[in-house]
Amino acid sequence: MNLLRTKSVEQSLADTDEPEFRLKKSLSALDLTLFGVGVVIGAGIFTLTGRVAHEVAGPAVVISFAVAAVACALAAMCYAEFASTVPVSGSAYTFSYASLGELFAWIIGWDLILEMFLGASVVAQGWSSYLGVLMEQLGYPIPAAIGYGGTVDVMAILLVLVLGALMTFGIKESMRVNLVLVFIKLFIVIFVIVAGIMFIDPANYSPFVPEAQVIESAKGFSQPLLQFLSGVEPTAFGVGGIFAGAALVFFAYIGFDVVATTAEETKRPQRDLPIGIIASLAICTVLYCAVALVVTGMVSYEDLDPNAALANAFVYHGQEWMATLISAGAVAGLTTVVLTLLIGATRVIFAMSRDALLPLALAKVHPTRRTPWVISILVTIIVAIVAGFTPVGVLEEMVNIGTLSAFVLVSIGVIALRRSRPDLKRGFRVPWSPWLPALSALICVYLMLNLTVGTWLRFLAWLAVGFVIYFAYSRRHSRLGQPGYVDPSLPHVVSHHREDAEDS
Ligand code: ALA
Repeated sequence: MNLLRTKSVEQSLADTDEPEFRLKKSLSALDLTLFGVGVVIGAGIFTLTGRVAHEVAGPAVVISFAVAAVACALAAMCYAEFASTVPVSGSAYTFSYASLGELFAWIIGWDLILEMFLGASVVAQGWSSYLGVLMEQLGYPIPAAIGYGGTVDVMAILLVLVLGALMTFGIKESMRVNLVLVFIKLFIVIFVIVAGIMFIDPANYSPFVPEAQVIESAKGFSQPLLQFLSGVEPTAFGVGGIFAGAALVFFAYIGFDVVATTAEETKRPQRDLPIGIIASLAICTVLYCAVALVVTGMVSYEDLDPNAALANAFVYHGQEWMATLISAGAVAGLTTVVLTLLIGATRVIFAMSRDALLPLALAKVHPTRRTPWVISILVTIIVAIVAGFTPVGVLEEMVNIGTLSAFVLVSIGVIALRRSRPDLKRGFRVPWSPWLPALSALICVYLMLNLTVGTWLRFLAWLAVGFVIYFAYSRRHSRLGQPGYVDPSLPHVVSHHREDAEDS
């Protein structure tokens, strides 16, 4: 039973007040919204729009964006309810510790680490690729050996090291840098929409949903799990293509959930977290659908560049300087995504080590800067290595599956916590619970089934490693299981977990 022991919301909140582990509370609703937009708009819109339209969905990629947005909106509401009830660092990990129990909390924390570590690495590589394009356009090409796709991506490593140093230095400073870059990025995205409208040719929208085609290359590990299980021939385009496209462009929305990781650094978390999460998702949805519509209208989906469609749609119309501007915006934009994912990863690991599921010593907060500096340095080094040395293009889908699985558990967690703790004050409540949270979980599972067999196998391997660590280390060291652990929601009773701990 003690696999499912839960950590009470009161305990989670009390932990945040221990002086050794206290973070600085400085963020407002606006900071959080900009933080959200900063992490969401990134490699996804700059690269995936073109690739998905060209290979999977055609002009109907805009519907793929809308479908992914619906899945995200439902999950965002669940996150908002949780974050306004349990405003503690660690996001979904902490929520599920309070609702579903320790083992699920561990799995979710492990999934979030996958999402943010790989997300930061993948986007750092994407950044390096745009830097290469930009420098080429400016006439100063980066030597192939040290750039994107080279033996070692030195540019991506440098980016991660600089951003890692910044995040270790201070959260407020990080937010300030973020702010400038987010405005540049928003400007570029709006520029693509406004400037692009002039070049739209309505003929490019037909057929809007291209006819389904069997694809020979997508057999075995590279076909979606759903097609593999149902035995249907792998196809692209058609209605199936819209949903497969949604599972891919989902990557572009990842990040609004990362807002919840900064809960402990927010001044008024119960009000500001729901605003930050939902507003950043809403802004991104509108911008994405507009970009998708404009870009597929500018160039026929058959001719769209699958790598850098936004910039190249303008080259196609002879507007080189606009393309250069867009590449520059992408370089600025992707910087903030990497920074935010790095911060998110440290906050999740911080929460897990404060609970002693990972070594407690990692959670040390710097006495004056009040940042979790040990973890920050560790995360920076690992992400720099992964970004510098992993071959490009294999890890994106892993980020999606890690995130979607966390969404599923958060949605179920909302229902569970409503049942077990109806008394808690909730700053935001998901309407029509349990139906909406249940629908959220189902849609996320459906999108997961649209990811490839290879991604599922790699994901299962990641989970297996997680289980080994949990059973070999975390379960025994968990603070919750220590003799003498007192649950503050039961003030006069020594926790019943005591016996469990003594047994093991
Ligand atoms: N949503 C982020 C991006 O598109 C991860 O880069």
